[in-house]
Amino acid sequence: MKIIALGASTSSKSINQQFATFAAQQIDPVAEVLHLQDYVLPLYSTNLQEKHGIPPSAMDFLARLDTADLVIISFAEHNGSYTAAFKNLLDWASRCREKTFLGTKMLLLATSPGARGGATVLNAAAVTFPYMGAKVISCFSLPSYYQNFIPDQGIIQPELQLQFQSILNAVKTQFTQEPHQ
Ligand SMILES: Cc1cc2nc3c(=O)[nH]c(=O)nc-3n(C[C@H](O)[C@H](O)[C@H](O)COP(=O)(O)O)c2cc1C
Repeated sequence: MKIIALGASTSSKSINQQFATFAAQQIDPVAEVLHLQDYVLPLYSTNLQEKHGIPPSAMDFLARLDTADLVIISFAEHNGSYTAAFKNLLDWASRCREKTFLGTKMLLLATSPGARGGATVLNAAAVTFPYMGAKVISCFSLPSYYQNFIPDQGIIQPELQLQFQSILNAVKTQFTQEPHQ
């Protein structure tokens, strides 16, 4: 089983990158970790697409996702939505392939320093990704990141820890029972 993790933020200190990586490594210690800042793309415009086509970086991203049995994305929330860099990558990728995620199983996460834990952007992804072909297995928002998460230990708030663990267990079980789906 191959897992790919991505924090949907370009911050080098991204808490979402940390959270996505942590989640992936709980399932598979050798999970592959992608970095959004590696996907350098011009700001999407139909004019640019007509003139130059889809940038290789967007196609590389899709090709990489296609190698995964499970993709874990943790979303940073900027003004209630995706970060501009992630939305831009999504826009380019969706012009390359309308069903961008093409049956990819996904665990969608979000965290933020605030009490809502990026719930708005997480909900947006949970609603729209299935239309883009994703099979969303589960979603989890971690509120108040700096109070509830320690990088070496994971989630330290007992109730959240239990909820998250049961999600990870369900994901693991699904892949154990259906290794080829
Ligand atoms: C432009 C901007 C807008 C933001 N908007 C929100 C928001 O709508 N909701 C929220 O919970 N946090 C918001 N934040 C705070 C982010 O959640 C915080 O910066 C977090 O660390 C982002 O995740 P990252 O570290 O993975 O980049 C915003 C931050 C920035 C810079």
